[in-house]
Amino acid sequence: MRLRHIKGAREFLEANNEFVITDITNFDIFNVWSSSQPIHLEVGCGKGKFIIDMAKTFKDINFIAVEKYDSVLLRAVEKYLDLEDKPLNLRFILADFNDLAQKIAQHSINTLYLNFSDPWPKARQAKRRLTSPIFLNLYKNILTKDGYIIQKTDNVDLFNYSLLQYELAGFKIISKTYDLHSTNIFNITTEYEDKWSIKGPICYAKVRL
Ligand SMILES: C[S@@+](CC[C@H](N)C(=O)[O-])C[C@H]1O[C@@H](n2cnc3c(N)ncnc32)[C@H](O)[C@@H]1O
Repeated sequence: MRLRHIKGAREFLEANNEFVITDITNFDIFNVWSSSQPIHLEVGCGKGKFIIDMAKTFKDINFIAVEKYDSVLLRAVEKYLDLEDKPLNLRFILADFNDLAQKIAQHSINTLYLNFSDPWPKARQAKRRLTSPIFLNLYKNILTKDGYIIQKTDNVDLFNYSLLQYELAGFKIISKTYDLHSTNIFNITTEYEDKWSIKGPICYAKVRL
């Protein structure tokens, strides 16, 4: 995603601390909501359409949207603020998931969403991919025993790499398709998906331990 720095983005996010967390020093997932609903988390929420629509649709799930760039998260939060009926089961976190993962309680997340993650195509960049063994180990630690990872991407190379890494890490592939939009799998689209699915099919995988 092309990044344009927006002046005052961090301050704006800090001012909306009712539903945006900008300091994860003392982060405790069990203190985010008073309700003990299942928790779903999107790594790299971008401008937030997917997670906002999910939170509106599934009121009995608590959602966390993680994004590392303040200027990008600002767009998601603006979208949320524009809603008349804001879903209270959604929180935004400004953090690099690498840092946040260390603070998330073991086996507390029911589903992780990886939507159109950066492909990092060069071999030397492989460990930055959100489905590299390093990240899959982080996910194993925070996912519940029956938790899922749901991935969508338009990048077939990243998808094939991810499928292999899931298997090597001991995840079972529950469903997969190289053309999500031609199936009847339930799907809420992301900004990136709306933009790029015109150019080619979307790959989808649902995996669990
Ligand atoms: C290509 S965009 C896709 C955004 C959105 N999921 C969508 O589908 O429209 C990937 C996003 O993931 C974010 N991201 C990548 N690595 C991250 C990390 N380690 N922690 C938090 N956010 C990350 C990027 O800043 C970027 O906004």
